[in-house]
Amino acid sequence: MKFSIFLLLILSLSAINADSLTLNYREQRYERAELFEAYEAFGVDDHIIQNEFEFFRYAGDIKGLMDQRLSDRKLWDDKYIITNVTPTKINSEDMVYVSYKNSWPERGDWIAAYSPPVYTAEEIAATVPVKFAWCDEGGPEYHVNGEGTLKFNMTNLRAGINFHIFSGGFRKMTHQNISAQEVTFINNNEQLRPRVLATGDPDIYTVVWSSDYTTKKPVMKWAWIPQGLGTQTEYHAVTDSIKQSDLCGFPANSIGWHDMGQINKANLTGMKDASNQKIYYTFGDAETDTWSDKIWEFHVPPKAGEQPPNRPTTLVLFDDLGRGSNDDAWTWYHYGAASFNTTKSVGYRVSQGEIDAVYHGGDISYAVGYEAVWDFFLSMLTPMSASVLYFTTVGNHEADWFHMADKPSTTTFYTGHDSGGECSIPAVKLLPQPAPATAAAPWWSYDVGLVHFIGMSTEHNFTTGSPQWKWLEQDLAGVDRSVTPWIVFGGHRSMYINSAYGPNVKGKYRANSDIAVSNLMIEHVEPLLWKYKVNLGFYGHMHTVQRQSAVLDHKVVQKSQPRVIDGLTWHHHEDPQATVQMTIGTGGANLMFNTNATQPAWNEMTMTKWGYALVKAVNRTYLTWEWVESSTDKVLDRMSIAQKDPSTDGVAFNCPSGFKVCGSEGTYEPTVVPTPTPSHYWGPNEPTVLPTPSPPPPCPPGMSHHWHSSECYPCSVGKYNPGYEHECIACDSLSDAKKY
Ligand SMILES: [Fe+2]
Repeated sequence: MKFSIFLLLILSLSAINADSLTLNYREQRYERAELFEAYEAFGVDDHIIQNEFEFFRYAGDIKGLMDQRLSDRKLWDDKYIITNVTPTKINSEDMVYVSYKNSWPERGDWIAAYSPPVYTAEEIAATVPVKFAWCDEGGPEYHVNGEGTLKFNMTNLRAGINFHIFSGGFRKMTHQNISAQEVTFINNNEQLRPRVLATGDPDIYTVVWSSDYTTKKPVMKWAWIPQGLGTQTEYHAVTDSIKQSDLCGFPANSIGWHDMGQINKANLTGMKDASNQKIYYTFGDAETDTWSDKIWEFHVPPKAGEQPPNRPTTLVLFDDLGRGSNDDAWTWYHYGAASFNTTKSVGYRVSQGEIDAVYHGGDISYAVGYEAVWDFFLSMLTPMSASVLYFTTVGNHEADWFHMADKPSTTTFYTGHDSGGECSIPAVKLLPQPAPATAAAPWWSYDVGLVHFIGMSTEHNFTTGSPQWKWLEQDLAGVDRSVTPWIVFGGHRSMYINSAYGPNVKGKYRANSDIAVSNLMIEHVEPLLWKYKVNLGFYGHMHTVQRQSAVLDHKVVQKSQPRVIDGLTWHHHEDPQATVQMTIGTGGANLMFNTNATQPAWNEMTMTKWGYALVKAVNRTYLTWEWVESSTDKVLDRMSIAQKDPSTDGVAFNCPSGFKVCGSEGTYEPTVVPTPTPSHYWGPNEPTVLPTPSPPPPCPPGMSHHWHSSECYPCSVGKYNPGYEHECIACDSLSDAKKY
């Protein structure tokens, strides 16, 4: 046992030393063209179809197309052959090489990896691949000789894998052949994907990791030096899992379902006394003596009010990540390839001890109901999540779903299907947030060094008087600025955003448009930020980078001024009397270019590149913000804030004249707005869409209502009826239809 720990130490340290900034990713060459093809084919509003999730819903209904195509052509046609799969026994993250020879090579030919393996048309129709790759990317002469080899980087999915060839892309997908060889994991019970998360108690963090269900005695141990692990106490982990029935709808609980394995959670205690130090930990199954394949190191952040010894409190912030990999394959569906660079770039800084915490403000993995994605995503995340505290807030792609009476986490603010039926459950179970966050009320705050961090949920009611609003006021009122002189506030959808996604051509706002949300946030949340002197607000959702002025109620309170230090230009704010706002929605998700050419006065900078923000609380009165491009590791924008020490100068901004937030006497008076009752139909700023007064009469068996309609439609029609917000998909009876 001691010998194996020693070997692990050597392996783990050499891995850290060998780490470098070798950054690469591939352009997402198919994605936009196929989306636009889908828009055109189905004539849908491009605000309805915003990503591949919708693309597959509308254009690639797996079951329907499979049924249709399998009847057209001979099954297992030998003109398409997978000639070799190697190796066939692998460990997590190993590369599998899949070779093929196709006699009718076309651009739309692709290889799918299924796990567990599938064999029949019925099995293929009932699930989706865990990864896929395009045949013409596997051989330079593919169009001539039909030959190629594709690399599949496989994370341990706790089940075997087989490979299938399809032609016809996704819209005309035709099954062609199946691999004779299958891949199995040497050990389905590998101990994987550590992430260290704050609990709310500053003395206790949680190490969360994934394993097979055969782990019966999950334990974690930590030590000050790696050699000390062999004799350390084993801390027992509690276990959790995500059941198919926990999830709320399509595709998460149907074709997208994939068991995410056992979730093990063990407490790291005594962390107050470990601040600013490096600790080492391992975890595994004590019963079978199965341990993580390396010793992990964790950088304990500074306690509240403390600085690291040789540098400022340093935070990494970004939104909208997704997942990428270094192979030829894409997860199903594919989204956020550039996240691979962000993870590597931030991970490198983490390995160098430069970072105290990472705060990922929503739109996390973009699994949106294709659950195997979470395994790939959490493996990608480990360079960051295993070694510093990892904070998240939920975005629309984790949370949003239609209200279901028996599932409290579905009480989200916006109607929509953006979570793909996940309704927050995978996000909050796999990446638990600090107290008091729960799946139904995912908001929290936490102190790291000189910074009080806040995570709000823009996906849950935040209007004046709502539970979240009351919590926020209470939290802000309780911040001791003599301990944490800086407040960094985060949520997913932007409070200030230069976006063309506002009113539609008829001048009507969609309730969840960027501008409608911005207006609502400014009306209800901004007064609290102003009242309690929040220094920095950051958000995402729109996949762009924007730096705004110190701004209040849509008006500039202070523009930044250029300040040159050592040849570098900083956009400086000297004692600003309002919050400086940011959008940093480019962790890795597809870039968005829907910025208005005419900038609002408060929008100082816009760029559309992938990267993250480095925030450094230099001391009690000086904070810097640098925006780093992931692929080059270059700082492309700099901002700084100087404030008077709030412990001596007060904890409120001065009241600027001409702002209603101040009131006539310079005091803050919130506008009390009744909290609407959540329903299927409820969305803010959309009063014309009212709840149906009484439910329409039930439909006969085999038919169902579409949302916003009292008419009955045959269930099968729903698949091809994109004019409705929510469709009856794959339902065979009225009771099935009601599930949606
Ligand atoms: Fe989003």
